[in-house]
Amino acid sequence: MNPDTLWYKNAIFYEVHLRSFCDSNGDGKGDLPGLISKLDYLQELGVDCIWLLPMFPSPLKDDGYDIADYYNIHPDYGTVDDFRTLVAEAHARGIRVIADLVLNHTSDQHPWFVQARQSRDNPYRDYYVWSDTDQKYRDARIIFLDTEPSNWTYDAATGQYYWHRFYASQPDLNYDNPAVAEEMINVLRFWMDMGIDGFRADAVPYLFEREGTNCENLPETHAYLKRVRRVLDEEYPGAILLGEANQWPWDLRPYFGGDENNPAVPGDEFHMAFHFPVMPRIFKALKLEDVSDILEIMARTPDIPFNCQWCVFLRNHDELTLEMVTEEDRQLMWQLYAPDPRMRLNLGIRRRLAPLLDNDRRKIEVANSILFTLPGAPIIYYGDEIGMGDNIWLFDRNGVRTPMQWTAGPGAGFSQADPADFWVPLIDDPTYGYQKVNVAAQMADPQSLWHTIRQMVAVRKANPVLGWGNCQFLPAGSRAVLALLRQGQEAAVLALHNLSGTAQTAVLPLESFAGAQPVDLLGRADPLPPVGTEPYRVNLRPYDYLWLKL
Ligand code: NOJ
Repeated sequence: MNPDTLWYKNAIFYEVHLRSFCDSNGDGKGDLPGLISKLDYLQELGVDCIWLLPMFPSPLKDDGYDIADYYNIHPDYGTVDDFRTLVAEAHARGIRVIADLVLNHTSDQHPWFVQARQSRDNPYRDYYVWSDTDQKYRDARIIFLDTEPSNWTYDAATGQYYWHRFYASQPDLNYDNPAVAEEMINVLRFWMDMGIDGFRADAVPYLFEREGTNCENLPETHAYLKRVRRVLDEEYPGAILLGEANQWPWDLRPYFGGDENNPAVPGDEFHMAFHFPVMPRIFKALKLEDVSDILEIMARTPDIPFNCQWCVFLRNHDELTLEMVTEEDRQLMWQLYAPDPRMRLNLGIRRRLAPLLDNDRRKIEVANSILFTLPGAPIIYYGDEIGMGDNIWLFDRNGVRTPMQWTAGPGAGFSQADPADFWVPLIDDPTYGYQKVNVAAQMADPQSLWHTIRQMVAVRKANPVLGWGNCQFLPAGSRAVLALLRQGQEAAVLALHNLSGTAQTAVLPLESFAGAQPVDLLGRADPLPPVGTEPYRVNLRPYDYLWLKL
């Protein structure tokens, strides 16, 4: 791969759910050779980096986020050699690969936990967090509210409770134990030595517990993460850590490290972190035809070190989280986007992008346009590039993890197995079924959503200012219009979005660009006059969006 150590600043990420992507051996479950066979597809779409969901041996109580062996590949997905081949084949196509690093917890089937619960004096006992009562750390919230009554579960055999922030089948590791802290760095080295390009680090706020706190974002946690970063920098320069911390922007800022008052000081913790709070606000803005919440959260988003980057997303493999909104907004979002109670899960909504946006091509496009022009590197969730649907009746979050719809043929081109044996059923309703929504059909149709997304990817990459430039939100004379000015030393791009179903005229203060002739990067606008000294007026159709190079 090219040696550019800041590659992630302007990269397009693509999130792959291995089990649902492509099945090479006809067992109804996606696997590594299947993914390898689809790398040409990802290259054609233009993605720079794949984020692979957990592929380790696991009882799959949490779809692989419950790891039973950190040093192997789940037999359903192939072998460690297949993994090496994946990395080599991806790199040969200029695509990087990051894997999930699940530091916080293991599966209860992990040999460490199996040992730990054998007796109180087992050498592995201290790999986990035990207590005589379930009354410790009462200020820590429960995350999987729908299923877990407590963060403590009683282990009858040894008469103590163990601590878990997620399912009871996912005991938290004890980072106060130096052996644990060391061992997880070995895990990191093991996968880095296979040539991967870094990690998406799972559930990082919760590594340590301290009485009297909410056990999130503790100084001890940051200190450990900085240690992890040092290992990467020293031993694997160019590799990245993308942090999953579902937190407010000001609580996220410390995860980048560096100096909070000086973005010129390089970050020394995470290279990237997901920007969780902006995501639900994009959906809210689209329903209310009012962009103020997006502006507000972005105004409260601190500057980050120059060598760091946000990661932005519309959807992922989890429920659309409403943790980072007020209680009032949560109720509103549920009312607007999850009218059927089955659509709700924990503090979120288990639906995919296209159904959330009424399968309205204009809304799907404008939401993606925001994704591709906000500060940060965008992530595409597999299947959203063709507008796949969901199945709210499946267990947990499986309804947004259904098999990729490659063709209209048998098994949707996902697998040769009898579709009745697929790990979860294909979507086959009249609106979103694979017969109608599939990659082959959309690649063949130049007007398809797939081609629009591919164009956004290409244009974004051709205009690095969208990755590197600073971002200013301009007043546009309408609540429904989101106007972002991305500016660098050599280029400026103005992105306009009409989040309403009625035509709007954006009126923009562009005097400092007087004389510039805007270039319509996506080829969507009517002819535009040069910028003058008066406020610049642009007409936008319902849900219209324009990227104008000034
Ligand atoms: C966050 C992951 O995205 C989610 O899928 C998982 O259930 C939890 N972390 C626990 O690992």
